[in-house]
Amino acid sequence: MRMYDVILHKRDGLELTDEEIRFFIQGYVNGSIPDYQASAFTMAVFFNGMSDREIGTLTEAIATSGDTVDLSLFGDLSCDKHSTGGVGDKTSLIVSPTVASLGGFFAKMSGRGLGHTGGTVDKLESIPGYRIQLSPDEFLSAVTKTGVAVIGQSGNLTPADKKLYALRDVTATVDSIPLITSSIMGKKLAAGSKNIVLDVKVGSGAFMKTLEGAKELAEKMVTIGKMHGRRIAALLTDMDEPLGTNVGNSLEVIEAVRVLRGEVKNDLLEVSVALSAELIRMLHGIPEKEAEARVREAIESGRAYETFRKWISEQGGDLRAIDDFSLLPGASVAYKVQAPSDGCIASMNASEIGMAAMILGAGRASKEDAIDYGAGIVLEKKTGDFVRQGETVAILYTNDETKIPDAEKRFLGALTFSMEPPVKKPLIYEIIR
Ligand code: URA
Repeated sequence: MRMYDVILHKRDGLELTDEEIRFFIQGYVNGSIPDYQASAFTMAVFFNGMSDREIGTLTEAIATSGDTVDLSLFGDLSCDKHSTGGVGDKTSLIVSPTVASLGGFFAKMSGRGLGHTGGTVDKLESIPGYRIQLSPDEFLSAVTKTGVAVIGQSGNLTPADKKLYALRDVTATVDSIPLITSSIMGKKLAAGSKNIVLDVKVGSGAFMKTLEGAKELAEKMVTIGKMHGRRIAALLTDMDEPLGTNVGNSLEVIEAVRVLRGEVKNDLLEVSVALSAELIRMLHGIPEKEAEARVREAIESGRAYETFRKWISEQGGDLRAIDDFSLLPGASVAYKVQAPSDGCIASMNASEIGMAAMILGAGRASKEDAIDYGAGIVLEKKTGDFVRQGETVAILYTNDETKIPDAEKRFLGALTFSMEPPVKKPLIYEIIR
């Protein structure tokens, strides 16, 4: 077989055979297929698409291109969650212990943040002592003991995706539904869980800006998950403004803990409940309403929070920093952003707010950048709130005072005001099963 012919077939709109797809992935990973041919291939897919069968085979080839995790120890009770990424999205910190407290085994591998979006690994690393790297045995043993463990992605998981994603990033082929689907689902299949909930974000802070695009991606990922024997659902959730109030690593841990303790009832709680309920529905085969009731009870009774504490402690995290937030990384500067005029907040561009948090030190502009775990933004107001000129809209936290002017400018640029309250958007648009 020649890569030239595989490219030619896709360029001419033909369906590729399973052998052709596997030949491409194997050859690309072992170096016998060069970047220039892989680029031509991804561009041909970008223009001509792929059938479900082709995407299914590509996903499987990516999933098996490196190590895979064997979670058979947990039978049908292993769970995983994936978010397409957002701003202030700390739902994993809430969903994993909640589902674990209701009989699930959450064995999750997470990523770091880049650009305007945060990553669960960075948030967890802001807890003193938390070990993000565990050996495979330690990982399985932690899940067995507490029902949940969250670690960084192991070195040799889906090497095909690492290589392909980097290539797509520089060849304008990221936003292709077959390529995104196989990239995300390849990683999910390799991570081994039987039950998967996907949080597909929609709006200004999301990868998919429109509901139509997000729905198409969600449906494709669910189809491919089912094709490979997984129980899977996708929630289309709003990311037109940040989720919750806190953006930034230790700030997000604080908000998640407050939700788990029942101290905060907001949009973050609602999205976390919906994601958890979907997994509980799948795990126990119970109706949606009953699953939601169990999830709310787990949070209200403190059971989910107890599991959170066991999980963090098992992975070396210092619980004193959960009991006393002043022991988490903090910020030397807290700057109040004031409303420039009277009015109702009509919109808060989530991506721009994520960029303001990044400027303060909470995120990375490039993969190598260091993070200031205490930096970030706390929103005092959200979309639909009325403000008076000079009233505090948000507090910017940083350990580098020189960052404030840029961050404030970026933050204020993210807001629009109107005299009329905006039409309220749904928090959860749809569930695809
Ligand atoms: N996230 C991924 O992991 N892969 C993609 O292709 C796009 C977003």
